[in-house]
Amino acid sequence: MADERFLVTGALGCIGAWVVRNLVREGIPTTVFDLGGSTHRLELIMTADELAQVNFIKGDVSDLNVVESAVKDTGTTHIIHLAGLQVPMCKADPSLGARVNVVGTVNIFEAAKRAGLKHVVYASSIAVYGLSEEYPEGALQHEAAPKPRTHYGVYKQANEGTARIYWLDDGLSSIGLRPYIVYGPGRDQGMTSSPTKAMLAAALGQSYHIPYGGRSMYQYADDTARIFIRSARTAFQGADVFNLRGSVVWMGEIVAAIQAVEPNAQITFDDKQLPFPEEMEDAALASVLGGLDYTPLEQGVAETIAVFKSAVAAGRLTVDGLR
Ligand SMILES: NC(=O)c1ccc[n+]([C@@H]2O[C@H](COP(=O)([O-])OP(=O)(O)OC[C@H]3O[C@@H](n4cnc5c(N)ncnc54)[C@H](O)[C@@H]3O)[C@@H](O)[C@H]2O)c1
Repeated sequence: MADERFLVTGALGCIGAWVVRNLVREGIPTTVFDLGGSTHRLELIMTADELAQVNFIKGDVSDLNVVESAVKDTGTTHIIHLAGLQVPMCKADPSLGARVNVVGTVNIFEAAKRAGLKHVVYASSIAVYGLSEEYPEGALQHEAAPKPRTHYGVYKQANEGTARIYWLDDGLSSIGLRPYIVYGPGRDQGMTSSPTKAMLAAALGQSYHIPYGGRSMYQYADDTARIFIRSARTAFQGADVFNLRGSVVWMGEIVAAIQAVEPNAQITFDDKQLPFPEEMEDAALASVLGGLDYTPLEQGVAETIAVFKSAVAAGRLTVDGLR
C-alpha cells in the first residue's frame, strides 16, 4: 500500500522470511533487522530479484541506539517485531535471554514511540501458558490466564506487559500474536520443526522419525506471516494479545497429508502428546482482523513439499539442510 515502509526484526527466521516475502511481492519497501548472518530461509522462498529489493540492517535489538536509528533512518511506518531467542537458549543463558527478549522488546516499543509511530506488532508465544491440565477442557479461551513454565514464557509474558504499559502511558497501540507450531518452508529449528523436517525428508525420498505426536495446532508459515502483516495494518486501538488457530490435527493426519503427496514416504512418530493445551480459539483475533482464513493442512503440506522439491532441483537445498 502507498507509502508503507516495514521494518521486520528477526526476519532471517522462519516467520520473518515469509513476512518479508509477502511484503516484497506486494512491492512494499522492507527492511530486515536481524543479528544473524544467514539468508538461507529467504533464499528458499524468494527469487534473487525479490531478495535484491530487501534492505538489510545487521543489528542487535538489545541496543536501543541501533534500533532507534534503524527505525528513523528507514522512515519506517510499520514494525513487526519477531527477533528473539528460543526456549533452549533462554534456559541455557537466562541473562542473555532477558536482554534480547525483554530489553529488546522494550527497545522496539521505545524506538517506535520516539519515531512517532502509533502501532507495533510483535510475537508472543503460547509458552505464556501452563500445562494442559491447568486449564478447562476444550479450546483455550482468549481470556485464559498465562502461567508460564519457562524463562522464555516469562519473557514473552513480560513483552505483553510492556505493550500494555506503552498503550496506557503513551497511547502506543499494539497487537501481540502467539503462534503455536508453525510449519512450512524455513521452519528448520526447534523440536516442533520435526513435522516440517518430515516433509523435507519426503521430498528427498528419505525416511524420518518425528519425536512427538498427539493432537496440536499447526499454523502454516505463510498464513502466520499474513496474519502478522494484517495485524500491522489494522486500525486497532489498544494493547491486546491473540492466539492463532490453524489446523488442529493429530500427528497421524500430518503423516497422511505427506503420504498423499509422496505415497512412498516412510514417516514414523512417537505418539506422545505435548504437555501444552492442544487447541485455542481465535474468535477475538478474527473479530479484530475481520475474519481469518487458514490454508487447509493438506494444501500447506503439499505446497511445502513442492517448495522443497524445487529448491532441491535447483541445488538450493541439500540433504544437509535436513537435520
Ligand atoms: N516458530 C514457531 O513455531 C513460534 C512459536 C511461538 C512463538 N514464536 C515467536 O515468533 C518469533 C519468530 O519465530 P521464528 O520461528 O521465526 O524464530 P527464529 O528463531 O527462526 O528467528 C528468530 C530470529 O531472531 C534473530 N535474533 C536473535 N537475537 C537477535 C538480536 N539480539 N537482535 C536481532 N535479531 C536477533 C535471529 O537471528 C533469528 O533470525 C519469535 O519471537 C518466536 O519466539 C515462534
